[in-house]
Amino acid sequence: MVRCWWLAGLLVVYAAAERSLRWEPRCRQQLRHLQDGARIAARLPPRLEGQWVSTGCEVRPGPEFLTRSYLFYANRLFKAFQFYYWDPSCREPSYSLVIKGKLRLRQASWITRGATEADYHLHKVGIVFHSQKAMREVASRINQSSGEGCSGFLPPGRAWAPRALYELLSAKTERDCTAALGFAMHELSLVRVERHHQPLPGLQQSGSSLVEELYLGDIHTDWLERLHYRPTGYQRPLQSVVHHMHPCPACGVIYRADEHHPPILPARAELPVQLSGSWVSTRCEVRPAVLFLTRYFIFHGSNHTWQGYYYHYSDPLCKQPTFTIYASGRYTQGIPSSKVRGGMELAFKVTQARVTPMDQVTVMMLNSSEPGSCGLASSWSAGVEQDITPTNGCLALGIRLPHTEYELFRTEHDPKERSLLYIGERPTDGSSPDRPDKRPTSYQAPLVQCAAASEEFPNYYSLKYVGKEGANGSEELKPLPVALLLLIALQLLRWD
Ligand SMILES: *[C@@H]1O[C@H](CO)[C@@H](O)[C@H](O)[C@H]1NC(C)=O
Ligand SMILES: *[C@@H]1O[C@H](CO)[C@@H](O)[C@H](O)[C@H]1NC(C)=O
Ligand SMILES: *[C@@H]1O[C@H](CO)[C@@H](O)[C@H](O)[C@H]1NC(C)=O
Ligand SMILES: *[C@@H]1O[C@H](CO)[C@@H](O)[C@H](O)[C@H]1NC(C)=O
Repeated sequence: MVRCWWLAGLLVVYAAAERSLRWEPRCRQQLRHLQDGARIAARLPPRLEGQWVSTGCEVRPGPEFLTRSYLFYANRLFKAFQFYYWDPSCREPSYSLVIKGKLRLRQASWITRGATEADYHLHKVGIVFHSQKAMREVASRINQSSGEGCSGFLPPGRAWAPRALYELLSAKTERDCTAALGFAMHELSLVRVERHHQPLPGLQQSGSSLVEELYLGDIHTDWLERLHYRPTGYQRPLQSVVHHMHPCPACGVIYRADEHHPPILPARAELPVQLSGSWVSTRCEVRPAVLFLTRYFIFHGSNHTWQGYYYHYSDPLCKQPTFTIYASGRYTQGIPSSKVRGGMELAFKVTQARVTPMDQVTVMMLNSSEPGSCGLASSWSAGVEQDITPTNGCLALGIRLPHTEYELFRTEHDPKERSLLYIGERPTDGSSPDRPDKRPTSYQAPLVQCAAASEEFPNYYSLKYVGKEGANGSEELKPLPVALLLLIALQLLRWD
């Protein structure tokens, strides 16, 4: 009985703590959630068995618009569908690829922490055209760049037949006509599976459902490099057909599709790009070559200024901070992109920046940088912010000021009616899109809108203590922990 009272007391305390957390502004809460690991677990080695699908229309550098459905069997064989489209909503299919082969997982990656390296071997790649126009276009691309044996792959004058499947690659006959399409499956050489629990909506929020995500290697942003590039980052993850996020209208459509019946995604209202407000990462993000980060942006539509926080980490769950960059400047009015339909072109000027080293390694690196190249030399210490504007940036971190970037943006609503902001993918070679011809043609992981108007957000430290500040905000915190505790309490009571 004593135990009951003790538990009841604990519950009251816990509920009070939860209430104060509820006032925490949504942007900070989201960032803190990501920093706390977002209750994510990664399976090592990953288990790939089963079917994995895109959760929406994906954009690859080029641009290419596609959806994917990959099936991995227990005997290491796989069958992958890639469905390509003319439009950024993935509603007008152009052609589909059927890719068959074998995959062997190898060791943990030394370059990308948390990833597993894999070898793959392609047995067959087939293509099905969904219109005469698609067939003509692909035929002329293959004709132009063709290797031996590929000119006869599509006999000239062959009329389009709806259900015909043509062989692009065959291990048996050693024919490979995939290069002209910019096709490679190097994405299979870097693999990561993450699992987390999504709280279930509804009255009894005590339940949650498992979500499994499959991260595959990234595609080089430079078309000429993509056939050779070995990935060090990831694409947008696929989700398990059995354990995916709810709702996901695209998942079922893609799951049921095959090469002759490409998925046509549900129509979505086109949103004008509305930047004003605050936007924050939805997950711990990976940049090719080893950077893990979360991002937080504020756009002031009234005077076209922006502020951005980049929180860098050394680990794939974003728990061990290394340094934080704050940058600000102005941006131009956006114009619709003619190259990437659905996107908006803007220019960003970075005029000010500040850096906060968060660990000893970064402090030492900054401390030993050339005097005058990165803030005040030898004066760095962990957790203390320095302005790097007077030194025109920071050479050691690759930041130059002032600096202009040519950007691609897109906004959309997710199935939960949250606003998402897609910012252009960074060039894979680590350079900056500092010329109009380097403007991205694909996007990074989306940010989610966390506040409509701008929200004050001074520094990194507040992340850890915000719960106690009683900060105000219209926040609904998922009350999962309380429910969980209740459940545990009930369990214990039963054992009494
Ligand atoms: C391929 O190119 C040749 C000339 O280089 C041309 O005669 C032929 O019609 C082309 N075939 C197709 C299918 O475009
Ligand atoms: C732009 O507007 C925001 C709020 O609307 C304000 O906080 C900020 O100081 C302004 N920036 C400049 C450079 O005027
Ligand atoms: C950085 O330099 C300052 C001044 O020389 C020194 O006090 C501090 O200990 C140095 N920190 C590290 C981590 O080297
Ligand atoms: C939060 O802000 C609203 C209005 O902005 C105010 O009415 C309310 O009293 C505040 N709550 C707390 C706990 O400060």
